[in-house]
Amino acid sequence: MVRVAFVCLGNICRSPTAHGIFLALVRERGLDDRISVRSAGTSASHVGERPDRRSQATANARGVELPGHSEQFHAADFDQLDYVLAMDAQNHRNLLRVARSETDRAKVHFLRDFDPNSPAGSEVPDPYYGGARGFDEVFDLCDAACRGLLTHIESELG
Ligand code: 4NP
Repeated sequence: MVRVAFVCLGNICRSPTAHGIFLALVRERGLDDRISVRSAGTSASHVGERPDRRSQATANARGVELPGHSEQFHAADFDQLDYVLAMDAQNHRNLLRVARSETDRAKVHFLRDFDPNSPAGSEVPDPYYGGARGFDEVFDLCDAACRGLLTHIESELG
């Protein structure tokens, strides 16, 4: 089993969007029994909440359901994960700070590093305080990166 987690700040906008998109792609390819997917936030401020309505509306308009409720990422989660995908530099830094070992640190990547068309360290910008266009952009960036991530994991699975 390859175990994947998407991580943003609140786990209500960006990481649930990537979670929903990636889960749909995994199911489409019939890989549900080989790849597990979850998401979390580095902050606890929205724990227990469903994804932001704007993220849900954007995803639903593209035929994607956003699963789950906000959870905070904890150091022990690294033990249950292979790929920890950070949405931006702030969350990437926070994950490296929480990491307990080189083994943990090696699991942390920028999500967009799996998009072959984006430069290293590219971010999925925080849409929370912006307008609707930000949510469309988040969806598109997550979609491109999730497709690249799945291609990468599929080659690892053989
Ligand atoms: P997310 O978006 O990290 O993509 O879930 C945010 C959600 C909430 C806040 C910031 C970003 N906030 O400041 O409450």
